[in-house]
Amino acid sequence: MTTLAPSTPEVSLHSGYRLGELTLPNRVVMAPMTRVRAASGGLATASMAAYYAQRATAGLIVSEGVQPSLVGQSNPGTPGLHTDEQAASWRQVTGAVHANGGRIFAQLMHGGRVSHADTTGMQPVGPSAVPAVGEVFTPNGPQPTPVPRALETDEVPEHARSYAEAARRAIEAGFDGVELHGANGYLISQFLSSNANLRTDRYGGSVQGRIRFAVEAASATVEAIGASRTGIRLSPDGTFWGVAEDDPVELYTALLGELADLGLAYIHVEATADEPTLLALRRAWPGTLIMNPVLPMGPDQTDRATADRWLGLGADLISFGRAFLANPDLVERLRIGAPLTPADETTYYQGGNQGYLTYPTYQHP
Ligand SMILES: Cc1cc2nc3c(=O)[nH]c(=O)nc-3n(C[C@H](O)[C@H](O)[C@H](O)COP(=O)(O)O)c2cc1C
Repeated sequence: MTTLAPSTPEVSLHSGYRLGELTLPNRVVMAPMTRVRAASGGLATASMAAYYAQRATAGLIVSEGVQPSLVGQSNPGTPGLHTDEQAASWRQVTGAVHANGGRIFAQLMHGGRVSHADTTGMQPVGPSAVPAVGEVFTPNGPQPTPVPRALETDEVPEHARSYAEAARRAIEAGFDGVELHGANGYLISQFLSSNANLRTDRYGGSVQGRIRFAVEAASATVEAIGASRTGIRLSPDGTFWGVAEDDPVELYTALLGELADLGLAYIHVEATADEPTLLALRRAWPGTLIMNPVLPMGPDQTDRATADRWLGLGADLISFGRAFLANPDLVERLRIGAPLTPADETTYYQGGNQGYLTYPTYQHP
């Protein structure tokens, strides 16, 4: 008897993908990138609408980090989703992206201890009174990261719920969904870590304790806007701002188990752990994996070869950061093999429209 091998549909960066209720025309995701160009009061602007609209050919855009509360603001000049005025200001962005045929999720980023009273008027909060390592931007220039106030046990749920409230505002503002920022040493990542989280209550100690905040934030968000519109970004074994995780495989396997029960739309994983760990997490996650296949802020930037390699290793979608920042027509350039413009680091976080709206589309020589 002959058995027929199941046919494998061709997976390429330019093949479509079904993500929750959305049909993505390709697998190229624009990675979240803070650009510090919001108007005062954390409002989105017409320039931000133009910037995202220029990149609407992405299968999916994930916005820059957006604070879900004032105390959760990390950098000055970043946008928020904790007031009605902020939500209204995002309508121009989501409207422009949709008018150009795109899809956009808001990345909800609570900075936790990576913040400063000069920026928010409040002492930053964190799982424990342990400062981050490094200097944080403030309106008065970079300053040492302050000692945060450790959240009381009964205060923790309101911070978890702040993601859900911002998610509800994001949907009102026309976003297609939200990504919880669970990576890079910010609040969720601080709770996951074994050196920023020294708590002895239900939000610390064991692996179950350290994942609880992430699970509560995700579960509240799913309740507010639905699982098919909720994703999360993770940086397993990452060391940003001095966080460390003693047991990344155990920690993330437990976390992914809980998140799979919630039915989240995706996990968005950074290549912060070694490859065997990343592949173990791929096997542990039954849903969509967006892979950001290089070390953030490292020397290599995501390119076509790395993207194709990860599609072969089981990623469903690939996110590109710096390449998308500097190439609004990245999807088309990747399709035709056109050269990529390098990103200008000096305008990452400043420069107004310069280095923001000024990157050209490819012109055939
Ligand atoms: C200017 C800049 C701002 C960034 N801001 C964020 C952010 O707000 N949230 C986040 O999760 N990652 C942020 N990142 C990390 C990127 O999403 C991405 O992981 C990193 O750039 C590596 O991918 P790449 O090689 O494709 O650029 C930022 C990166 C850059 C270059």
